[in-house]
Amino acid sequence: MQAVLSRWIGSQLPMESRSEVGSWFWNSECRYAAMSLEDSKIKLHCERNWRQTRSRSRANRQRQPEGLPPVILPDWFLEKNVKRTEDSPRCASLSVIGSRLKTVEDEVLMTSVAGDKADTESILPNEINPKYAIDLGLYLEILSTLKAGVVLRPPRTENPVQRPITLLHCPKDGGLSYLDSVMEEMARRLDADLISLDAQDIAQIVGPYVGENLAWTDSDTSYLAYSAQMAAGKVQEYHNEESEANESVLGIFGIGSEAGTPPTAPKSVVENWYGLKISTALDAIIGGADSKRIIAEQDGTEVPDHNPARPLIIHVKEYNCLSETRAGPRLLRALRTAVDKQWQEGKNIILVGTASSDDLGLSKDDIQHVQLEEDPESVTRTIIVPPQRGENQDIAFSTAEKARIRRINVRHVEDMILKLHEATDPLNLAVDMESNLDNVAACAAGLEEEVWAYSRVRRLATVVHGYQRDTTSLTPNLIDGQIIGIALKLLASSDEVKFDWGVKELQKEEDEANAMVQEGDKLTGDRDKDRLNKVRKKCSSHEKRLLSGVKIPSEIKTSFTDVHAPEETIEALKTLTSLSLQRPEAFSYGVLARDKIPGMLLYGPPGTGKTMLAKAVARDSGAVVLEVSGASVNDMYVGEGEKNVKAIFTLAKKLSPCVVFIDEADALLAARGGTSSRSITHREIINQFLREWDGMNDHSAFIMVATNRPYDLDEAVLRRLPRRLLVDLPLEKDRASILSLHLQNEALDPSVSIPDLAKRTPYYSGSDLKNVCVAAALACLRDENAIAAAHTGPDPYVYPKKRLLTKQHFDKALDEISASISDDMSTLKAIRSFDAKYGDRKGRRKKSAALGFGGTTVEEKDSEAGRVRKIEA
Ligand SMILES: Nc1ncnc2c1ncn2[C@@H]1O[C@H](COP(=O)(O)OP(=O)(O)OP(=O)(O)O)[C@@H](O)[C@H]1O
Ligand SMILES: [Mg+2]
Repeated sequence: MQAVLSRWIGSQLPMESRSEVGSWFWNSECRYAAMSLEDSKIKLHCERNWRQTRSRSRANRQRQPEGLPPVILPDWFLEKNVKRTEDSPRCASLSVIGSRLKTVEDEVLMTSVAGDKADTESILPNEINPKYAIDLGLYLEILSTLKAGVVLRPPRTENPVQRPITLLHCPKDGGLSYLDSVMEEMARRLDADLISLDAQDIAQIVGPYVGENLAWTDSDTSYLAYSAQMAAGKVQEYHNEESEANESVLGIFGIGSEAGTPPTAPKSVVENWYGLKISTALDAIIGGADSKRIIAEQDGTEVPDHNPARPLIIHVKEYNCLSETRAGPRLLRALRTAVDKQWQEGKNIILVGTASSDDLGLSKDDIQHVQLEEDPESVTRTIIVPPQRGENQDIAFSTAEKARIRRINVRHVEDMILKLHEATDPLNLAVDMESNLDNVAACAAGLEEEVWAYSRVRRLATVVHGYQRDTTSLTPNLIDGQIIGIALKLLASSDEVKFDWGVKELQKEEDEANAMVQEGDKLTGDRDKDRLNKVRKKCSSHEKRLLSGVKIPSEIKTSFTDVHAPEETIEALKTLTSLSLQRPEAFSYGVLARDKIPGMLLYGPPGTGKTMLAKAVARDSGAVVLEVSGASVNDMYVGEGEKNVKAIFTLAKKLSPCVVFIDEADALLAARGGTSSRSITHREIINQFLREWDGMNDHSAFIMVATNRPYDLDEAVLRRLPRRLLVDLPLEKDRASILSLHLQNEALDPSVSIPDLAKRTPYYSGSDLKNVCVAAALACLRDENAIAAAHTGPDPYVYPKKRLLTKQHFDKALDEISASISDDMSTLKAIRSFDAKYGDRKGRRKKSAALGFGGTTVEEKDSEAGRVRKIEA
C-alpha cells in the first residue's frame, strides 16, 4: 500500500521539488508516521501526513530560496517540540517557593514583571506535587531577562545586529528536565510560543535535509546527538590504549570529511549550498509554531489566529555540549543569525540555551565570573540556575536524567533502524521500540544508564533487520520492542561467549607466562650456579676468601617484603641498581654514560635496616652479589689488606654483571690520615681501593656501600658515591608497620595495640623494635613455662598450640629494651651533620620529598628529636 501511495504522493508534488525531496520525503514522512504507529493506523497516518505535507510545503515554500526543496517538519516535532500559547497547559512540574526577597518587594516585583496583581497569586506554591521547585528571586530574574529579550527592539540600522544568547546553566548534572520546566513556565508567563530543540531534533530534521543518511554516509549533522552526548561524557566508553590514541568526537567517518561534500566539487560552492540548506531548515524550524497554526486552520480544527506580536522563544537544550561538537558551532551560529534576523524584521523572538553540568566553579567568585562575562563580544550571557536543595529534588533529577537517556537511546535505535532501511523499502516499515519492550533485557543493556555509542546502535539495528527478516512476525511491517529486546539478548549472549573465551584465554596466557618465568628463574639460577662454579675454579687465593660472600639472587633470603621502608627509598634503590644492571646498554651512551652512577651509599643510625635493604635490592636486581664486610676485609690477614681489596675488584670483574655490597664500610674506607704505621697501611688500602674502583669502568658492577658512621668515610670515597640515601629512624606510623611485620606470625591478645606500641617507642630503630618483639615473645614463653611448672594433676601439662602475646608481655619487653639511640648521642649528632653536608636532600628545595624515612612530611613530634632529619614544615 505504501509503495503505491508513495508513487502517488510523488506525482502530486510540484515538479521542482520532486527529485530533491524524493528520498528524504519518503523516509522522513514515513519514519515519523512509523514512529508513533500501531500497525492498524499506518494507512490513516500516511494519508494524514500527506495532506499535512502538502499544506506545509505550501506554507513553507515562499520562504524557500530558489532551487531548494521544501522543508517538511515531522509530526513528532510539531507535536512535542512546538508549544503554542494555546497548546500549553499550566506547567504542573514547577513551583516557585520562598525567596530571600522581602514580601512587599516581591509583590512589586511580581506585578511589574508578571503583569496584573491578581495573576501573581498563581505564582505562589499551589501546585499539587510539583516535580521541581525554583526560588522566587531566581524565577523573577529569568522572567525579567526573557521579557526584556522579547520586548526590547533592535537599534534602527540596516546592518545585521546580533544579541548574545541567554544561557540558563544548572550547576548540577541531570538538570535539563528541570530547565525544561522553567522554560515552559517562562513561555506561559510571557504568553509566548515555545519551540524546543535538542541535538537529536536538529540531527533528525536538518541532517536528512542536507542529504545525510546516518547509517550509510558521511553525516556530521546527523551525528550531532552522538557527539553532543560524547561531549557531555554520557556516552559509554570502552577504554583501550589504542582507541584512546585515535579517539575523536568529531565524526564517525573520520576527520576532515565535511558532511554533504562530494570530494570533487569546489569547496566554496558546496559550502554555500550546504550553508543555505542549513539556514533554510533552521528557518522552517523557527517557523514551527506558525506552520502548526496554518495546518490546524487548514485542517479546520482551529480558527485562524494571527497575532504577529506574540512572542516566540526558541529554546536550545544542551547548549554547551552542542557547541563542543564539530557541526554544533556552525548550526548554533546559523540559528542565532536566523533568530536575530527575524527580530530585526519586527518579530518578538528570543533564543535561549539551557545546559546542565556539574563542572562549574561554585565559589562566589566563580559564579560571578561565569555570569558577568567581561567580553562584550561573548556569544552567551549566562544565568546560573541552581535547583532547590533536598532529597526530593535529587531524586527528581536522577529519575529525569534516566528517562532522558532512555529517550535518547530509543530514538537513536529507532532512527538507525529506519535509516538502514531507507533505500530498501521506504514506506514499508514502522518502528516502536517502547511497545512490548523487554525491560529486563533493555536495562541490563544499560538503556537508562548511558547513551549508547553510534557503533553499538548500528550493530543492534543491523541485527534487528536481519533477525526481523528471519521471523514471521504477526505484524511484519512493525519492529517493536519485543524484536529489539530479542536482538539485545542475542547480542548480550553472543558477547558473553566472547568475554568468557577472553577471560579463559587471558588466564591461560597468564599461567603460561608464569610458568615461563618460573622456568626462567630456575634456568637463571642454574646458569648463575654454573657460572659461579666456573669462576670458583679460576679464583686466586685472595679471591677464594671472598667467595663465601658471593650469592646468586635465588639464594638471598631477604626481600622487600621483610623490611619496611618508605616507598621513595625503595623506588630509588630499585631504580639505581636494577636499571644500571638490567639495562647496561642504556648507560652506554649519552648523559648516563658520562655520568654513570657507579655506586650508592646507604647511611643512617644503627639498626635501621640498611643491611636488609641492600640485600633486598641485590636480590631484586637479579644480579649476582658479592657481599663484603668492611671489617673482615681489613682484618682478614694483617698486612694483606691491599691484596684483599684488589681481590674484591678482580672477583667482581669475573662475576660481572654483579652488585658489590660493602657493609660496615667505615671499617674499610675511613678517612686517610695520621702517621702511625696502622694509618699508613690504611691509607694504602684506600688508595688501592680507589684505583681498583676507577678501573672497573668497563664492567657492569654496582657498588653499594652501607654504614652507620658515614662521617668517617674518606672524602674520595664519598665523591665516588654521588647517590647517598639516608635510612632514618622510623616515625610512629613506620614503627607500627615494622612491628606488624615482625609480629605477623604471632597470635596477639586483643589487649595488644600496635598503634599504641608505636606511640610508646620513640627513638626505637627497626632493630630495637624487632628486639622488643623478641623480648615479648620470650616473656610469653617464660609465662608459659611458669604455668607448666605450677601445673599439678594426673595429666602432663599441654602447651597451647600457639603462644598468645599480651599487653603485659610487651610492657615487660619495653622495660627490658630501650632505644639504642638517643638525641644526645654523639653518633646521631654526627650523622645529622653529615646528612646536612652530604645528604641527597642537600641543596634541594624545601618540602621536596627526600629519600629515606626523612622524606615524609607528616608532623610527628615524638620521634622528631631522635631523627637525623627534622620534619620540614
Ligand atoms: N625497616 C625495618 N623493617 C623491618 N625490620 C627492620 C627494619 N630495620 C631494622 N629491622 C630489623 O633489625 C635488624 C637489623 O637490621 P639491619 O642489620 O638491616 O640494620 P642496619 O641499618 O644495617 O644496622 P647497622 O647500622 O647496625 O648495620 C633486621 O634484621 C631487622 O629484623
Ligand atoms: Mg648493617
